[in-house]
Amino acid sequence: MQSPYELLGGDAKVRELVTRFYDLMDAEPAYAGIRKLHKPDLSQARERLYLFLSGWLGGPQLYTERFGHPMLRARHLPFAIGTTERDLWLACMDRAMQETGIEQSLRQGLQQAFFKTADWMRNRAE
Ligand code: HEM
Repeated sequence: MQSPYELLGGDAKVRELVTRFYDLMDAEPAYAGIRKLHKPDLSQARERLYLFLSGWLGGPQLYTERFGHPMLRARHLPFAIGTTERDLWLACMDRAMQETGIEQSLRQGLQQAFFKTADWMRNRAE
């Protein structure tokens, strides 16, 4: 069975998706609530989300090879994440998937998987 990584179109497409995701977060006032949690320079965030998603989608485990276990929840503890921040992240990602032309059924499946990961990152009652 093909992995989501393969269905998506592999490495270049993962990079394109992450680029669009952070370009949108940076440019759109709608996502200011999560943009402000990030450093002014998004280059490290861009690189690391790309490395992480490669493995998370079933492709090469680039993040783990470089940094070991992602410990994503622990790494997000410094940032206050409630349902508002979760939903902004998911909205930004869904738009990035639409704008990079990810086919609808794949996009919907990925959005459900992103929801689980984003929901698990919540660290503040709201
Ligand atoms: C739920 C809402 C989320 C918020 C508000 C959020 C916010 C952040 C912030 C502020 C950073 C630090 C970036 C920097 O260096 O400036 C970060 C890092 C990161 N985020 Fe998220 N994030 C969220 C969800 C997610 C999800 C769902 C994923 C994966 C599917 C993810 C993957 C990552 C990765 C891989 C890093 C880099 C970790 C590292 O090595 O330091 N995040 N996130």
